[in-house]
Amino acid sequence: MKSIAGLEKEYERRTPTSLKCFERAKKSFQGGVASNFQAYEPYPIFWDHAKGSKYWDVDGNEYIDFNMAFGAVLAGHAHPLLVKAAEEQLSKGTLYCAPTDLSATCAEEVKKRFPVDLIRFANSGTEATMHALRVARAYTGKEKVIKIEGCYHGMHDYLLQSVGPDLGEAGPESCPTTVPQSKGIPRDVTKNTVVVPFNNIDAMRDALERNKGEVAAVIVEPVMMNTTLIPPKDGYLEKLGELTEEYNVVLIFDEVKTGFKVAFGGACEYYHITPDLITLGKCIGSGFSLAAFGGKKEIMELIKPGDVAHGGTYSANPLAIRASIIALREVLTRENLDYATRLEDKLADGIRKTMKDNGIPGYVNSMGPCGMVHFTEHEIYDYRTFVKYYNVDRLTKFWFGLVNNGIWIAPHADEHWTVSVQHTEEDIEKTLAVIRKIVPDLKY
Ligand SMILES: Cc1ncc(COP(=O)(O)O)c(C=O)c1O
Repeated sequence: MKSIAGLEKEYERRTPTSLKCFERAKKSFQGGVASNFQAYEPYPIFWDHAKGSKYWDVDGNEYIDFNMAFGAVLAGHAHPLLVKAAEEQLSKGTLYCAPTDLSATCAEEVKKRFPVDLIRFANSGTEATMHALRVARAYTGKEKVIKIEGCYHGMHDYLLQSVGPDLGEAGPESCPTTVPQSKGIPRDVTKNTVVVPFNNIDAMRDALERNKGEVAAVIVEPVMMNTTLIPPKDGYLEKLGELTEEYNVVLIFDEVKTGFKVAFGGACEYYHITPDLITLGKCIGSGFSLAAFGGKKEIMELIKPGDVAHGGTYSANPLAIRASIIALREVLTRENLDYATRLEDKLADGIRKTMKDNGIPGYVNSMGPCGMVHFTEHEIYDYRTFVKYYNVDRLTKFWFGLVNNGIWIAPHADEHWTVSVQHTEEDIEKTLAVIRKIVPDLKY
């Protein structure tokens, strides 16, 4: 069996220019990366360019990309229709800070997919969840929010809580302690965020009861996609809908990852549920900086001057909006989503077979064009089961094995992969050949 040290050596042999770039970047760029999520050991690979299903690093190595910008580019890289749309807009100006008819067209495309009366655009998922929470608070006149342990909703203080807490600090399983995910978050903010485990409706009811009359909103990733890929148990989301109605609390589906992916109309369509508010990011911009939040008219109509604030210089900038319209109308179509999902099914089945043939314990979860391998025999149904049972050592070896053979998945154990609409049968065959080569090395 190859050791991690041996795999790391091979990684270093293939990527010396990345190391040089990293050393240079660190001198003027904190940590050498643009986001903490881009940092990983032994050092990050620096990209040169990307096209379709592939990217090339600064050493000229080619990779089949299954991270797809943490799932944001289901469209694949540099999709010709999106390049054309962007080029058309470039010469017309990229930022007006004034209304455009294009924004309404884009909003209509969103409404064709999601059960929302009104939306507003933002630039990132972080902004979308921050604004959704504010308007929920204004609507209910309450301050607390209930979130799920292990769910990620962006970088603002209210929801940057218990995303990946140390179990030593996280308190009891069914009534977790809220653990800030960063230094610098005021204690008074943390007090307003209540944390519960995923897939546990009793714990949710208890939390609503304990905080009765104080909770503005429950926010949930309908499928946990920041703790590998964990679907809700049968009936969980429906019961969540009933409970939030009973307790007069706004239900927010954070569809930044699920939206456009688990189904054409995201988790709302897949599970036939209409939450009070939804948040969208990633695929809505398909590589351009765009996000949105929206939902029931009686909540959203509070957003106006002098009432509930919402704004942003780059909000609904015409470059991202024009690209989004084309992405939603012509690229992320039902047919293309079905195509990517078929490829993902083939990939997942191939991995399952290879693991079985080699006696590697584990299973693969798939949803739409996304999937993730779980190296454990235990069922993972929430954050704690992930932390307790997931064999990270095996995943690390799997990751190095893939990367050293030109297959790219996210360098984090809690991510899933995405097959884009530009991946091909040949990409999947090549990937499965690599998997057949490296999986025997995962035996102990
Ligand atoms: C479910 C979810 N919500 C919100 C966000 C934040 O989005 P952004 O990185 O665009 O701020 C993310 C990012 O990964 C996410 O996965």
